[in-house]
Amino acid sequence: MSKRVAVVTGGIGGLGTEICKSLARAGRTVIAADLGARAERVAEFQREVDGLDVRFEAANVGDFDACGALVRKLEAEHGTLDILVNAAGITRDTTLRKMERTDWDAVLNINLDGVFNMCRYAVDGMLARGFGRIVNISSVNGQTGQFGQTNYSAAKAGMHGFTMALAREVARKGVTVNSVSPGYCETAMVMAVPEEVRTKIIDSVPVGRLGKPSEIARTVEFLTADEAGFITGANIPVNGGLFMSF
Ligand code: CAA
Repeated sequence: MSKRVAVVTGGIGGLGTEICKSLARAGRTVIAADLGARAERVAEFQREVDGLDVRFEAANVGDFDACGALVRKLEAEHGTLDILVNAAGITRDTTLRKMERTDWDAVLNINLDGVFNMCRYAVDGMLARGFGRIVNISSVNGQTGQFGQTNYSAAKAGMHGFTMALAREVARKGVTVNSVSPGYCETAMVMAVPEEVRTKIIDSVPVGRLGKPSEIARTVEFLTADEAGFITGANIPVNGGLFMSF
């Protein structure tokens, strides 16, 4: 069987980078789709994945047409697109009373519309070929809500509703759709949280530390395996036991 081909959106980000590496080490051809405008980060990413079957492709998941073009390009180049990991995500944290319409739109556009945009184009080929693995990177904050994150929590909770609905639609055709809900991990996104807030959050995590991006990647790799065909419509929390704190 030829190598499975995977696309990871947000592929050069904090979680996305580790997901790309993990999928490549598991024998997949990996395309990291992310904003090309981050030129320095793209160069750094390319050094990090040197020697692995990973390459960068510029794409904005918030742009429906661009997602169509990306999927068609990858299918033409590789003859298949087997695995889609939607890991592109942004925050615009602020309380609802201070939230601008642009803060809402930006987060919903990337975090939720982006999932629709990529799935809308990727799913046809997966169904035709009778195999697909879709993993949507949600968040513990989509399950619990978080102060200052009405936009982000809504998008991340919405992502899981989307996951379950699509999982039902494609369940009989060899395509699985799952979400992974990370807790607080060692990423730039979490490091941007004010230190005193972050310290309180870490104190509330039973495991007593931030998660490592590789611990999220491990879960994604597990869900995308050929052997994972009986897991679908699930939401896997990887949060250091955070639920037990409430
Ligand atoms: N719970 C309850 N009350 C809180 C609170 C909390 N978590 N945080 C602040 N408050 C209170 C404050 O004590 C303050 O009360 P008073 O008005 O009585 O003084 C009031 O709410 C306003 O607080 P701030 O002045 O701090 O409000 P702000 O606008 O300056 O800051 C914020 C709000 C930007 C949202 C800031 O609290 C913040 O950054 N919080 C962290 C949000 C967060 O956890 N984001 C996660 C990012 S990482 C991620 O999203 C990855 C993932 O998936 C896990």
